[in-house]
Amino acid sequence: MRDTEAGGVTTWAARGWAQEDGTGAEETGIGGATLRRLVDAWPRRAAVTSRAEMVQDRAEFDPAVPDYPLEIVPFAEHPRFLAAAPEQRQRVLTGLWIGYNERVIATEQLIAEPAFDLVMRGVFPGSDDLLVRQSVQQAVVDEGFHTYMHMLAIDRARELRQVHSRPAQPELVTYRRLRRTLAEMPERWERDVAVLVWGAVAETCINALLALLARDTTIQPMHSLITTLHLRDETAHGSVVVEVVRQLYARMNDAQRRTVIRCLPPALEAFAEQDLSTLHLELVTAGVEGADEIVDDLRATSSGRRLVRDFSGAQRMLQQLGLTHEVDFDFPERPEWSPAAGALR
Ligand SMILES: [Fe+2]
Ligand SMILES: [Fe+2]
Repeated sequence: MRDTEAGGVTTWAARGWAQEDGTGAEETGIGGATLRRLVDAWPRRAAVTSRAEMVQDRAEFDPAVPDYPLEIVPFAEHPRFLAAAPEQRQRVLTGLWIGYNERVIATEQLIAEPAFDLVMRGVFPGSDDLLVRQSVQQAVVDEGFHTYMHMLAIDRARELRQVHSRPAQPELVTYRRLRRTLAEMPERWERDVAVLVWGAVAETCINALLALLARDTTIQPMHSLITTLHLRDETAHGSVVVEVVRQLYARMNDAQRRTVIRCLPPALEAFAEQDLSTLHLELVTAGVEGADEIVDDLRATSSGRRLVRDFSGAQRMLQQLGLTHEVDFDFPERPEWSPAAGALR
């Protein structure tokens, strides 16, 4: 375990995951101990209880510092983008930052919270366990605060960068995929399992999306602070969700278990998908010439169609469920920047 990573995030990640990569969690009762430790740590760890005042700090704004890391913009090197005026490129980066926040909020509200709600409503056997309820309710409180932080981030960016209007955004791609799956499920219990699986994949994958900005030193410091605070919570949520899903899965009947296995590949696919229409929208809104060409060129490459994702959290969940060989999904290699990769080094 490395204790030297900036902000202690990796250290926290290491602690969070270290309990779960061991063998024989069920036999040793480590699972229950993990939830107990996570529940007890919440008052010190949660952004809402420990760093709430930080998001109000307005001191650090330098207009020359970009809102979004160029390094992760898939068309950063495209000649049509490079040919755009500096103000247009800056508008694109601001738009990407605002869009990123909008999608994080939508993921909380449309994917994560509905799954947590099902657990809190006692839909699945095993969700009446005290530690399950406490850890999930803590996560629900966290998600509300995350939405608030990202909402402030949007408002602040719009004010500081004079963004007077935003183009209407397409529906979140992961939610479109969830709706498509739900539409093919006649039974309520099947749809409940699908919502749980989508939420579990979101909660084990969102930290990779947050880490991309949290670790970046080239963007507005407030942006990396907000994503760092959020990442710290989501690292804990990843551990909570792996443990909670493991406990619920153990109590599921065969039909429910088969539905979990059936839902995992499309859920993982959904979270790997790059919605090119959102990139197109930002280019057009900033007035960049050749937006169609840029996006067509991206579409022609496999890296342009897939988001860089770190699925190590989801892989750990499959391991815990004993489903590593049951789920048909081509996991990408864990990227260098993965917080979990740091934890395991
Ligand atoms: Fe969150
Ligand atoms: Fe979360």
